[in-house]
Amino acid sequence: MNQLLNKNKTSNKDAILEIGEIRKSFKIGNNEIEIIKGISFQVNKGDFIIIFGSSGCGKSTILNILLGLEPPTTGKVNFLNKDLYKMSEDERAQLRKKEIGTVYQQSNWIKALTVLENVAFPLMLQGFDLDSRVELAKEALNLVEMTQAFDQIPTELSAGQQQRVSLARALITKPSLLVADEPTGNLDSKSGEEIMALFKDFNQRGHTVVMVTHDLEYLKYASRSIQISDGELLAEHQANAESLKKLAISKRGNIDSSVKVGEN
Ligand SMILES: Nc1ncnc2c1ncn2[C@@H]1O[C@H](COP(=O)(O)OP(=O)(O)OP(=O)(O)O)[C@@H](O)[C@H]1O
Ligand SMILES: [Mg+2]
Repeated sequence: MNQLLNKNKTSNKDAILEIGEIRKSFKIGNNEIEIIKGISFQVNKGDFIIIFGSSGCGKSTILNILLGLEPPTTGKVNFLNKDLYKMSEDERAQLRKKEIGTVYQQSNWIKALTVLENVAFPLMLQGFDLDSRVELAKEALNLVEMTQAFDQIPTELSAGQQQRVSLARALITKPSLLVADEPTGNLDSKSGEEIMALFKDFNQRGHTVVMVTHDLEYLKYASRSIQISDGELLAEHQANAESLKKLAISKRGNIDSSVKVGEN
């Protein structure tokens, strides 16, 4: 593990996130069950990483660990060259607030606030004045083509529109990393493709993305994808790997975790 982390530190100044040999066990009944079984990977500036694998293989657990929400049982997470789990919970929360934007399958809205106010909210937590908050929230909503919805209540919007607003809220603090867990999980295929295209667009503008998805059709958007099976890293694939395209075509979104796609 340390080898990986040390090597990357000197060889790659662009590393945003270094995950070193993480393991995670949960106590279920009387038993300690190992859910994450020694996973290492690195995320560099500008990457669009998709983590995929069948339901229950540990994808959300990996995200929670890299978000600083769930300490691994063993292993190391370096985020922006800081050892996340050597920091206090409060320091981690501060770092997360400033440097990580999140989009989930279902958005958590402050129901008494409008779309504009919800999007501006993370800036309030960082002490921005009202005028700057409004200006930046309008700018962010413009980027996701939701300027018509400033004064609406988020839950009045369609699921696809809510995800656009959610993306605007995630990006408003200009975070170093955008993390998404099944952001298209509630969407029909057309809205799903639109959201994926937006993520790709933001990635091309320089945002680094780590996303979990079930849908193999979306692997085409990633610069690198990481295949997880039963808590282990089965394979890493570069963009456009032939084997990956074949897998996406043959499975049409249903992942059979027993199929390992050859790396290329
Ligand atoms: N806090 C917890 N306590 C006990 N078990 C947990 C906890 N969190 C996750 N697990 C277990 O860990 C395993 C992996 O869960 P995880 O949510 O990471 O899977 P996933 O790959 O995200 O699945 P899905 O695609 O369905 O969202 C599951 O068996 C789950 O029940
Ligand atoms: Mg999950």
